[in-house]
Amino acid sequence: MTQYQIHSDIKANASSVLALLGLSIEPKVLFVCPQNILNRSFKRSMSSLEIEVAFAESSSEALQKMNSFTYAIVIAIDEIDELDGVGFLELVKQMSPNTKRVLVSGKSDMDATMEAINRVGLFNYVVLPWEPSELRQIVHRACDLFSLQYENANLSKLLSNQANDLRTLVDTLEITVQSRTASLLTGLNAALDLRDTETQGHSRRVALYARRLAEELEVTHTEAIDIQRGALLHDIGKIGVSDTILLKPGKLTEEEWVEMRKHAEFGYKILENIPFLGNARHVVHQHHERFDGNGYPQRLKGKEIILGARIFAIIDTYDAMTSDRPYRKGLPHEVAIEEIHKCQGTQFDPDVVGAWDRIPKEELFILRKRAEEDVFAGSI
Ligand SMILES: [Fe+2]
Ligand SMILES: [Fe+2]
Repeated sequence: MTQYQIHSDIKANASSVLALLGLSIEPKVLFVCPQNILNRSFKRSMSSLEIEVAFAESSSEALQKMNSFTYAIVIAIDEIDELDGVGFLELVKQMSPNTKRVLVSGKSDMDATMEAINRVGLFNYVVLPWEPSELRQIVHRACDLFSLQYENANLSKLLSNQANDLRTLVDTLEITVQSRTASLLTGLNAALDLRDTETQGHSRRVALYARRLAEELEVTHTEAIDIQRGALLHDIGKIGVSDTILLKPGKLTEEEWVEMRKHAEFGYKILENIPFLGNARHVVHQHHERFDGNGYPQRLKGKEIILGARIFAIIDTYDAMTSDRPYRKGLPHEVAIEEIHKCQGTQFDPDVVGAWDRIPKEELFILRKRAEEDVFAGSI
């Protein structure tokens, strides 16, 4: 088997696959000429090709035919009617840019040929009288090129559609995985809330407050969600702190505090292999840092602390103060705000405190209510 035969076989197989997929087209030729003698001669010249040929005797008839079908090739005689061949092929170019255009002329004028090639992007220029075999070759090449371009365009469209479908599927799967993971983490957090009875519902409330404050600071939607997730999970590392320390009723000794403070690192470690919580993880890690650099675990200072953690520091204090504890009732909103103001510049970022001040207390009450009524509040 020659290389040519192998190539032809591959091409034939590819064409049949494309035909099965409805992506290929049977190329058709339109010959535009008012002279019967040339029409008959063209028909004879094409008889050995397995390509369908249509005829139009005027430019208007040709344009009408083109309205209902995309021809692979349009061959026009130089003098059709009031419209000359070049003018007509210009219209063909506008109507169907992928159709190959061939001009047939009695004149062998190089300048006119070049001008026509440039003006209408001619595929070829045929001088009368044509040589049938040469004409067949031109038609054959034009049809091959047209089919190839047509199939390529359809294949690209099909691949792009499939890529879009695949992307949508991946997005849907990712959302499902994220929402299930978030539910799992909410459950984990709820378990922690039950263990650390002093803070029941605290994580859900701070998650909602953190999201609201992040939005007040006009962060992007994604950043706001990351901050919300970080707030929800901020104390997740307490799972790694022993019951004797976590549930100790009295004050902790200095050694016990050392153990307790490890929960920020534990939380950071717990979330290590959950890629979609990559940013939230930093909020968890830094949630006990202070603006003046006296926090832990890294003693970060000022803007070294990520915004999510600077946001969190304020709302954590606010929620701790305004919530009921077994040994005292929650303090009024105004008292908590006053305390936060006292600590701006030391514990808190003054810019973030300014944003917190702008949120009406009624809105915070609504968020608090949502967190109390819905165990999944704040989870994303
Ligand atoms: Fe904490
Ligand atoms: Fe907290």
